[in-house]
Amino acid sequence: MQPVNLNNRYRGRKIYNVFPELRGIVMQLTTKLLSGIFLGLLFAGSALAAPDINAGKENAVMCFNCHGAEGNSTNSNFPTLAGQKPAYLANQLRAFRDGTRDNGMMKNMTFSLSNEDINNLAAYFSSLKNKSAGGNEELAKQGKSKAPMCFGCHGNGAKGMGVTPRLAGQHPAYLQRQLHAFKDGTRKNGPMRGIAGMLSDEGISAVTEYMGSLK
Ligand code: HEC
Ligand code: HEC
Repeated sequence: MQPVNLNNRYRGRKIYNVFPELRGIVMQLTTKLLSGIFLGLLFAGSALAAPDINAGKENAVMCFNCHGAEGNSTNSNFPTLAGQKPAYLANQLRAFRDGTRDNGMMKNMTFSLSNEDINNLAAYFSSLKNKSAGGNEELAKQGKSKAPMCFGCHGNGAKGMGVTPRLAGQHPAYLQRQLHAFKDGTRKNGPMRGIAGMLSDEGISAVTEYMGSLK
């Protein structure tokens, strides 16, 4: 019998090929280590990012010119921000700043904001009381039947949920423009493109008048 020559047998072969189970163990350890570091960063990040409503209020004065006193807009060119969800507000402000949501005015307003400024502004506007813009009664009645499919993501009564915005009390004309923008792809968002695509122009008018009429 030939003695097994370990040196020859293992030479030139990766250690993982020789001990396949080792690869699994190393991968598991790496994953554990990385997720530990990740969680650590996440907690450190959220501790730093505790929003300062008063700092947000100071910066917000320049927003009132367009978005109305205390974020309740009286002009449908400008959305109401009062009572909007903070995570949604922060997401949109970053999107305007980074150019993933395209609007010249809002680009100018956000390009110099830090993430901290953004979180403070979002906390401030979300703390304010929303004054409903109201909607056309006849159309609102027609739109009501479509609303349950919106509530699933936008929350009961469309009051908003996390990164999904409050629609209740928002200017119908503003909501209409956004739905058309989702539909033609000028505003990019996965679920809303498909949903807006399912609505006719009449459907869009009706459902947005209904949302605007909610308090
Ligand atoms: C010169 C006018 C103007 C000023 C000043 C302005 N905005 Fe805007 N803002 C707009 C317009 C117009 C839109 C709608 C953009 C669109 O149609 O996509 C908008 C949209 C937004 C949105 C998106 C709301 C939503 O429901 O999606 C947020 C958030 C916002 N602005 C926050 C702010 C904040 C915070 C400030 C102050 C730092 C500010 N804006 C100052 C004009 C302005
Ligand atoms: C699958 C979840 C989902 C459903 C269902 C849904 N939405 Fe949305 N909607 C979203 C998300 C997420 C956003 C935020 C998009 C972004 O971050 O740009 C949004 C944004 C919007 C906006 C923009 C609001 C603003 O302030 O700019 C409008 C308008 C809107 N939705 C209307 C509707 C209507 C009307 C319905 C029902 C016919 C509906 N959505 C159903 C998830 C959903």
